[in-house]
Amino acid sequence: MYAAGPRTNIAAMKRRKALKWTLVGVGGVGAVTLGGVGYVGYLWADAKLDTVGKVDFTNPLAVPPLAESTQDSSGTRIFDLEIQSGTVPFKNGRETDTWGINGAFLGPTIRAKRGEEVAFAVRNRLDEGTSIHWHGMHLPAVMDGGPHQEVASGGDWAPQWTLNQPAATLWYHPHPHGRTAKHVYNGLAGMFIIDDDTSEGLSLPSEYGVDDLPMIVQDRKFDDANQFDDQAAFLSMQGFFGDSIMVNGTLGPYFDVSTRLVRLRLLNGSLSRLYNFGFSDDRPFSLVATDGGLLPSAWETDRLQLSPGERAEIVVAFEPGETVQLRSYPASHGYTGPLGRVNGADDLLDVCEFRAAGTLTDETAIPAVIGEAPDLESAEVAEERSFALSGFNQINGESMDMERIDFGVREGSVEVWEVTNGDGYMHNFHVHDVQFQVLSVNGEEPSEHLRGWKDTIQLAPQWKYRIAMRFTDYTDPNLPYMYHCHILSHEDSGMMGQFVVLGEGEEIGQVPVVETAHSHG
Ligand code: C2O
Ligand code: CU
Ligand code: CU
Repeated sequence: MYAAGPRTNIAAMKRRKALKWTLVGVGGVGAVTLGGVGYVGYLWADAKLDTVGKVDFTNPLAVPPLAESTQDSSGTRIFDLEIQSGTVPFKNGRETDTWGINGAFLGPTIRAKRGEEVAFAVRNRLDEGTSIHWHGMHLPAVMDGGPHQEVASGGDWAPQWTLNQPAATLWYHPHPHGRTAKHVYNGLAGMFIIDDDTSEGLSLPSEYGVDDLPMIVQDRKFDDANQFDDQAAFLSMQGFFGDSIMVNGTLGPYFDVSTRLVRLRLLNGSLSRLYNFGFSDDRPFSLVATDGGLLPSAWETDRLQLSPGERAEIVVAFEPGETVQLRSYPASHGYTGPLGRVNGADDLLDVCEFRAAGTLTDETAIPAVIGEAPDLESAEVAEERSFALSGFNQINGESMDMERIDFGVREGSVEVWEVTNGDGYMHNFHVHDVQFQVLSVNGEEPSEHLRGWKDTIQLAPQWKYRIAMRFTDYTDPNLPYMYHCHILSHEDSGMMGQFVVLGEGEEIGQVPVVETAHSHG
């Protein structure tokens, strides 16, 4: 049984923080004595990862199966999700101990249409409690799968709701209090695709697994016994960085392209790593959707940054017979000095190889008009709030407390939140239940990739966002939704808060005591 716990703890992170402030304080790595300049120089050189040309693309890209469902007499779609442990032969020799959903590693792609009632029979076959959170989903707090909906070992959970949001690429992953990084790293994650009439009527590539591909991009590290190593990177305040990139659980993946246009549904499913996606020949590609759904029109670019938890749908064109690699390029983290390098900002990574057939079918196109633009910039604002992220565990000077509801918002109202990263480290910001509109970044109009609906944004050092969101439908004075940094070691350390959605006249209530034993065998 795989029992590797997170080996990071707050004391260790504090030690690293102290160490790093020393680094910054004395003006750079070269000046530090940490067992000698030579040793630090070695670590420094080692910190930059360049895997281009070193990855053998020998494994066909796995495409997660579409989850099967049954329909009950009322038309509700019911999906079975069994959370289990298993092993995967990632490397020659011993198999790697993993966790998965309906299989040994990762989970099936859940796909359903707006308006449908969906229900899940979640069974936890692990030796410890976990949960399934539906990242990006608009749904009642009691169905959200956050830390208040932990499913005990051997227990089950039956969330159900009506899909009521535009077509989008969402995802699901565990959210147990303080243990999310470990659970995601062990393999618990999957995609949740919502379709709607608009998306089904578009000429975009949409044949799942053929020209419409889920791409769950994650980094891993293997120890000498081929087991996942989750130790935080040396000197990093962001936690874990792996040196092996996998897509949908495939190391060194290649995909045989059979169509001129291919849609990639990119998910940064990593714990801490930022990806700056681009192709090996710098070809342009079209961004057609962000976290919360389709953009009003495509945006052509040759680089796209995604921080942990963010998604993007891109469409890329191929020529017959060519081979090209998707990579992650050195990214601007907003770090100054050596901090960027120890947090992966300088890394150059091969991600996936695309091999185009000698002839390609050409039946899809990128429409001029795709989706609808967010429209909250002119809405009446009921409340403004500010959120300052700092250190690795605080928002507005406080760490997550399961019993503390930080504030309540009014059902039906629009709020503007100012989100600030006041320190020298990378963060990001995710809000449950809603999709928001980015109004400004550092006082300026957001760039194109932030003009669609978002639920997660990269928050580089010293950055400030203004975001607007409307809270609708599900009120519950007692059960909160979360907002947090999606760098999972930060989330687990307490960089998270809770809010409730209140109906008219309702006051903030009391978080119910979490049941510890709701096992039904
Ligand atoms: Cu992707 Cu609160 O989570
Ligand atoms: Cu979420
Ligand atoms: Cu953070």
